[in-house]
Amino acid sequence: MPLNSNAPIGVFDSGVGGLSVLRAIRGQMPEESVLYFGDQGHIPYGPRPMAQIQDFSETITRFLLDRGAKIIVVACNTASAAALKYLRQTFPDVQFVGMEPAVKPAAERTETGVVGVLATPATFQGALYASVVERFANGVQLLQHTCPGLVQQIEKGDLDGPETRRILDEALNPMLEKNIDTVVLGCTHYPFVIPLIERIVGDKVRVIDPAPAVARQTKRLLEAGGLKSLNGARGEHSEIQFYTSGNAESLRSLLPKLLGEEGAVTTIKWEGDKTLKVGD
Ligand code: DGL
Repeated sequence: MPLNSNAPIGVFDSGVGGLSVLRAIRGQMPEESVLYFGDQGHIPYGPRPMAQIQDFSETITRFLLDRGAKIIVVACNTASAAALKYLRQTFPDVQFVGMEPAVKPAAERTETGVVGVLATPATFQGALYASVVERFANGVQLLQHTCPGLVQQIEKGDLDGPETRRILDEALNPMLEKNIDTVVLGCTHYPFVIPLIERIVGDKVRVIDPAPAVARQTKRLLEAGGLKSLNGARGEHSEIQFYTSGNAESLRSLLPKLLGEEGAVTTIKWEGDKTLKVGD
């Protein structure tokens, strides 16, 4: 069946992290409708086995495609690391946009030659990260940290409390001692704590959020495929439908804070690792 340009963009993440990507998509393409799936029943993905993340990602992709998505944005570094290649093989006719830690722009611009990368364990272990480092690090020293607990703090909406601050201090202070001048945010949750990160690292350290580049790439692919929405200006026709495998009310209450707009949230339940069911 030919794709319809007014069909929605499908976006998913393990939780609210993908909202940082959705925010950039809304900013650049307010006319596009979006289906957003947060797999909060399974969060965090970071410590999970690759094969399980592949199962979740495949099932969520199928769910979004069944609801008419014209392109899938894997707005999660962990799912991209574990499953992007697998998704492209499993759905050869579908266009995917994935995330990878922004080592390339960091390595191009660092002056001290030392760059900090914050991401989940699965992202660091995946072949995608290894290949990004091999292709782009070019002798730049990369200091890695997994920030244990930070994703959960952000899921609670705690963007600058003492525990969130402690986790980031622990990750960033040793990096500052080693003279980093750039921090790469390799997890889509982390852009929500940029103000706190900037308070810790000061104004001489650049913080790279890849979300705007991912939104630009999504736009390019839609344009190239003749799939840009013909809807009018924001608010006229475009809409976002949110789905969560966790608690709909808690996601709904976080939307204004994280995304800057309200939205309707539907609960979806897992039956095993490969089946989704609408409703409680
Ligand atoms: N937002 C996800 C990412 O970009 C990670 C969160 C998780 O561990 O589930 O990697």
